[in-house]
Amino acid sequence: MTARLTVLASGGGSNLQALLDACADGHLDAEVVLVVSDTPQAGALARATAAGVATVARRRDTAETRAGYDEALAQIVADSRPDLIVLAGWMRLLSMSFLGRFPRQVINLHPALPGQLPGLQAIERAHAEAVAGRRTATGVMVHFVPDEGVDDGPVVATATVAIDPNEPLAMFATRMHHAEHRLLVEAVDRVISSGSDIDLTSMSSHQT
Ligand code: GAR
Repeated sequence: MTARLTVLASGGGSNLQALLDACADGHLDAEVVLVVSDTPQAGALARATAAGVATVARRRDTAETRAGYDEALAQIVADSRPDLIVLAGWMRLLSMSFLGRFPRQVINLHPALPGQLPGLQAIERAHAEAVAGRRTATGVMVHFVPDEGVDDGPVVATATVAIDPNEPLAMFATRMHHAEHRLLVEAVDRVISSGSDIDLTSMSSHQT
């Protein structure tokens, strides 16, 4: 059965585009049913609209608590009846007010290998470490988001990316994004193909 994907994205949306393309060309037996952003000007919203996908832009009001925002967000997402919720460049930490409503249903893409470089600017930090001679490789991963751990949780898929310290950051970032686009489609396929049979306990948090 075609899986319903709801995608949360804050940025340009190149990873959302990879999902939209894979759904359109039949690589994924899935449909993106809603794209939600915390950033009204996010490129991801324009990409969704261009593909005919419904969008919601929902900023956090200054007066709103984090829990209140996450509850409102959870309701918007629940109303889209997703089989899987994909954080594709979603740059806001989700609390249990959100995650508690979707156990085993939220996956996150992060541009680093498990247990390494959590948080913002992982690509830039990996490159800086390589230039300083402290790193020769990094990677990308997709993991489940069971709780408030930052870029951490049972791993669905990883890919290692070598770093040449002489490669300009922009070129390295482009290679990382290509690796992400491939891995995200592969990971979504793996999760939707497994359905409710997926065994999270067999996935260690820090496998590489
Ligand atoms: C991607 O590199 C994604 O891995 C990263 O944001 C970028 C979004 O690009 N996410 C994180 O760093 C999450 N911690 P996109 O908007 O072009 O898909």
